[in-house]
Order: sequence, then C-alpha cells, then structure tokens
Amino acid sequence: MDIALDEKQRVRISEILYGLLASSYSFYLKTQNYHWNLKGREFYPMHLLFQNQYEELAGTIDEMAERIRAMGQHVDGGLGTFKEKSFIEDETDSEKSMDAMIQQQIDDHEAIIRYLRKHLPEIEGFEDGATADFINKRLAVHEKMAWMFRCSL
Ligand SMILES: [Fe+2]
Repeated sequence: MDIALDEKQRVRISEILYGLLASSYSFYLKTQNYHWNLKGREFYPMHLLFQNQYEELAGTIDEMAERIRAMGQHVDGGLGTFKEKSFIEDETDSEKSMDAMIQQQIDDHEAIIRYLRKHLPEIEGFEDGATADFINKRLAVHEKMAWMFRCSL
C-alpha cells in the first residue's frame, strides 16, 4: 500500500479516528436513550431533535469506520472496545429531567469539539487532507448542534 502516508502515520490517523468513532457510537446510543425516555412539556420537538441527531450520527459513524479501513487498518466494532476507547460516558440516569438531558448533550458536543480541534493539527501535519476535511465538517456539525441545544435551555 503506497498512498504517500507511511504505516506509522496511517496507524496514528486510525487511532484518532477510532477515538472519535467509539465516542460517536456512545453518543449515538445516549442520544437515542434520551429520545426514548424524554418527558416534559416540550416533548415532541425535543424527541424529534434527538432523533435528527442520532440519525446524523449513524451516517457519520459509518464514514469514520470506512476511513479507518481506507487507511489499511482493522476496525474493532465491539461494544466493549467502544466503551473502553470512548471519552463520552454512558448515561446511567435515563429518568433525568429534560433540561439535564439537554445540558448533557451540550457538554458531550463540546467534548467532541475539543477532541477534534486538539487532533486537527496532527492530521494536517501528515498532509492528510481528506481526514482533515472530515474533521472540519464534524466540527461544524457539532458546533451547530451545541448551539441548538444551548438555545433549547
Ligand atoms: Fe423513535
């Protein structure tokens, strides 16, 4: 395999993407959990907002995994490994208030934004434009979602 990224660079790019994949998968499940268990006066619009979000995450999770494969690396798709590598914590209280769910979403979006911004310079240093483009797109999506949730509080 010769794509002008050496093995060490492709392994590192895959590690960064895998951290994002595992965390996005946890976030996907957590968002669906909120979609299911939400209660309150604004139930329906928030139920739909959570649905829009987990559907968007489902599409991008696939892109992350396939980009890791394009780097010549294996993707471990097990829940145990995802949990180990995710920086997004599982929700243990699905009875929490709507405002607490919204605040948790804001915190999780911001954690993903920080992760992406932290790793972007390293990816750019490898001149891996395709992964850098993907990260920049994810930054815009998470920043927009964080804004929407902030306005819902
Ligand atoms: Fe549903």
